[in-house]
Amino acid sequence: MLQVEVLRDLAARVLSEERFNHTLKVADWAEELARHHGVDPVKARCAGLVHDLAKEIPLNNQLRFARRWNLLKYPEDEQSPYVLHGSVAAYWLEHYYGLDDVEVLAAVANHTLGRPGMGQLEMLIYSADLTEADRDFPKVDFLRQSLYDNLEKGTLACVEHTLRYLRESKRPIHPLTQLTFEDLQRRQNVGTGSKNA
Ligand SMILES: [Fe+2]
Ligand SMILES: [Fe+2]
Repeated sequence: MLQVEVLRDLAARVLSEERFNHTLKVADWAEELARHHGVDPVKARCAGLVHDLAKEIPLNNQLRFARRWNLLKYPEDEQSPYVLHGSVAAYWLEHYYGLDDVEVLAAVANHTLGRPGMGQLEMLIYSADLTEADRDFPKVDFLRQSLYDNLEKGTLACVEHTLRYLRESKRPIHPLTQLTFEDLQRRQNVGTGSKNA
């Protein structure tokens, strides 16, 4: 069973005050979007509360855990270990804290990079992380509105924004994020092909 209070206390205990505050903002925004889009708001809140649970573990230890738990999937995972904290947190929650909700675990695991075929809860947490109330960048209001209007289109806009940011700041692009972008784009086009036929 999902217990919001238990997960909230866990996050408060494990995280710095600043990151815990970010966590609360993600949980609030994810819950609001979930209610609006007919997604389970308790799951959204729970996933928001614990999504960054492993983020403050030193990177070399995250890498050690990821190796031990067999979470490394791409060479890029080792080159940029900061992408690992989602899957490390999900493993930790499942195996050490008995969290057994597969949707919440997937949303936590995939919040940093996305994955092709994301479900609604995964899209919610990925996008709420980028656009929670304290985030402040020029396009953030546009992204919030797109997420409100259409979760899948809004998430596509969030992934596109992230890819542009990575390109402009000359940072590496993880193959999963590129695949997520292509998948969401394809999903937008499903059913519209007949217009051009
Ligand atoms: Fe994160
Ligand atoms: Fe986060």
